[in-house]
Amino acid sequence: MNIEVLEETAQAMVAPGKGILAMDESHSTIGKRFAAVGLENTEENRRAYREMLLTTPGLGEHISGAILFDETIRQKTRDGVPFTEIMQKAGVVPGIKVDKGTVPLAGFPGELITEGLDGLRQRLQEYVKLGARFAKWRAVITIGEDIPSATCIEANAHALARYAALCQEQDLVPIVEPEVLMDGEHDIDTCYDVTEATLRAVFEALYQHNVLLEGTILKASMVLPGKDCPEKASPEEVAAMTLRCLKSSVPAALPGIVFLSGGQSDEDATRHLDLMNRMGPHPWPLSFSYGRAMQQAALKLWAKDPAGAYAEAQATVARRARENGLAALGRLAEAA
Ligand code: 13P
Repeated sequence: MNIEVLEETAQAMVAPGKGILAMDESHSTIGKRFAAVGLENTEENRRAYREMLLTTPGLGEHISGAILFDETIRQKTRDGVPFTEIMQKAGVVPGIKVDKGTVPLAGFPGELITEGLDGLRQRLQEYVKLGARFAKWRAVITIGEDIPSATCIEANAHALARYAALCQEQDLVPIVEPEVLMDGEHDIDTCYDVTEATLRAVFEALYQHNVLLEGTILKASMVLPGKDCPEKASPEEVAAMTLRCLKSSVPAALPGIVFLSGGQSDEDATRHLDLMNRMGPHPWPLSFSYGRAMQQAALKLWAKDPAGAYAEAQATVARRARENGLAALGRLAEAA
């Protein structure tokens, strides 16, 4: 483990005014996104779409890194240039999703555990050779009647810590992502309690596994009412409660926190981030690692006419990157 390399990569990932483009959808997830806009889920469509994203002019101005999927990190542009080379030239650090997705947690109906630890050391070694400098592992915590259980939180925290330690052994910065899902009728206070318990368990597990916090990035979900909760929360309430939750459970030694968008509208994801930063200063930079909130507007355009709308789709990626980059500084007002 090279501490300097880890710290340097982590700092670059959360450089001021920059955030991460999450484009690591598994085949089934990208299939859902494509189906929603009438695209067929073929390898060539996935490659062409991701080439469009990664060759966006000026991508590196507001995007520090991009998270790729196993297939994507091996792909090339139409002209035969490896995606990782395009990224390095654009100043975008290549990252890789290394978990193998979720399966039901045996004995705990309705709860999920993330798989992918077996053989992970060898897979990480290969990803380093392919150019990756950071990795991502997503754990999922579901809120419902009598869930999450302490067992589910513990099991997922333990897997995140084992993954993080293996990453650091290979000089890869782990993005540790315990996502508390927005699905359900629960109120914002329930989300707060579950998020706090989850984060505490995750940082306890990281400590137990000798994970270097200075070389780790947290990918957090915001504290929100469930999608079907009748009581909506104001943006100020979401921002304030998310901050309070993070401050009570995330050590200040962490180099940065990035948020997932998790199904929020583009506007909400950006506004919440901006508000939080306007409420600063905070112990860590707060930025973004958005998938849908970075891509969905561009995907819609591109799907209609992949050749004809190419430039417009890329301009949309650049606009969302700029808006989110400004929100990471609490300066969204300047985007207008
Ligand atoms: P969303 O921003 O679409 O939630 O995706 C981020 C991500 O990478 C979830 O693992």
